[in-house]
Amino acid sequence: MTEDDSQRQQRALLDNIPDMAWLKDRDCRYLAVNTAYLDIVGRPEAAVLGRRPDEIWPREISDVYLRTDRAVLKSGRRRRYEEARPDGNGELRWFDTIKSPIRDANGRIIGTVGISRDISERKAAEGELIRSRAQLRELTNYLQSIREEERARISRELHDELGQTLTALKMELGWLRDRMPAAPELPRIRVDRLMSIVDQAVVDLRRIAADLRPLILDELGLVLAVQWLGQSLSGRHPDLALTLSFDREDLAYSDDVSTAAFRIVQEALTNIIRHSRARRAAIGVRHEAGELRLEIRDDGKGMDLNASQPGRLGLAGMAERARMLGGSLAVDSAPGAGTTVRVRLPLKAGGPSREAQR
Ligand SMILES: Nc1ncnc2c1ncn2[C@@H]1O[C@H](COP(=O)(O)OP(=O)(O)OP(=O)(O)O)[C@@H](O)[C@H]1O
Ligand SMILES: [Mg+2]
Repeated sequence: MTEDDSQRQQRALLDNIPDMAWLKDRDCRYLAVNTAYLDIVGRPEAAVLGRRPDEIWPREISDVYLRTDRAVLKSGRRRRYEEARPDGNGELRWFDTIKSPIRDANGRIIGTVGISRDISERKAAEGELIRSRAQLRELTNYLQSIREEERARISRELHDELGQTLTALKMELGWLRDRMPAAPELPRIRVDRLMSIVDQAVVDLRRIAADLRPLILDELGLVLAVQWLGQSLSGRHPDLALTLSFDREDLAYSDDVSTAAFRIVQEALTNIIRHSRARRAAIGVRHEAGELRLEIRDDGKGMDLNASQPGRLGLAGMAERARMLGGSLAVDSAPGAGTTVRVRLPLKAGGPSREAQR
């Protein structure tokens, strides 16, 4: 193979690389550059070879190139960094650049080799993804708070308006019954039946209103609301032994925190009833490191955390609620080994966690 042939081969190798590629000597002078490089620089090869970056690039760019070249020459280590520089039209483009030392047969560093890939599209897509995720999170948060407000309003209206109406109806029926002792038996039985229908309606109404949003949460706070939740669950599912523990019962929480904590416990309990076949479950509420820590544990059938659950929103919604408040949620479970959901909610207003903003 002649010298000419091997040079031609090197050239072919360089030119086949779609990214900018080059070789420099110890003085940072260009020994070889590929066509992708020349296309971007917009100069003929003869105007590049033998020159240094500061004779080709604007000062603020060449400073970086010389500095990184020297760092590679000095350390003998490969460097990789992302850089932004304007293209011919003044538009900022991003490059992923890698520089490595070249050594002679004795291991002495005789120059550097570099490659620089245009990653502007990827950068733009990343930026777009970050923006749209943040937007989606904001939207979710907004929808959730609207939904919560709406439920509170409907719950209150049912309770106050319809509740009052039913109470009035009951009183009127009572009045009627009291005044018809002499009436034939059948109409009296009918009035009694009407009164018990009204009683049932009141019970239904209370249950529906409380399911929408328990007034107890707004009026008496998280601890009593969770206790109420536990009691009503135990009433409906006497086979499940549910224990509750609170390390403090005297704290008041912001609306955000108590709503999130309550909804998380509610959803976790719904999951236990629907999926776990557990015999025992426990809710623990603790305070640690400025955070509210919830733990909802069951001894049921557990689940495979690696199996994907398309279309399931319960756990994802719980995690999102926690993240929106700057907290987090972790599920610990394995088939046959029960499930534990752990949630951290910061008590100081801190905004969404960094992760949530991504
Ligand atoms: N405590 C639990 N014990 C066993 N499996 C559970 C438990 N909690 C959740 N799972 C499993 O995880 C899956 C996902 O739960 P997730 O709450 O996200 O969805 P879902 O309850 O199925 O539906 P929804 O969107 O109505 O909540 C469930 O379908 C169930 O298989
Ligand atoms: Mg669920």
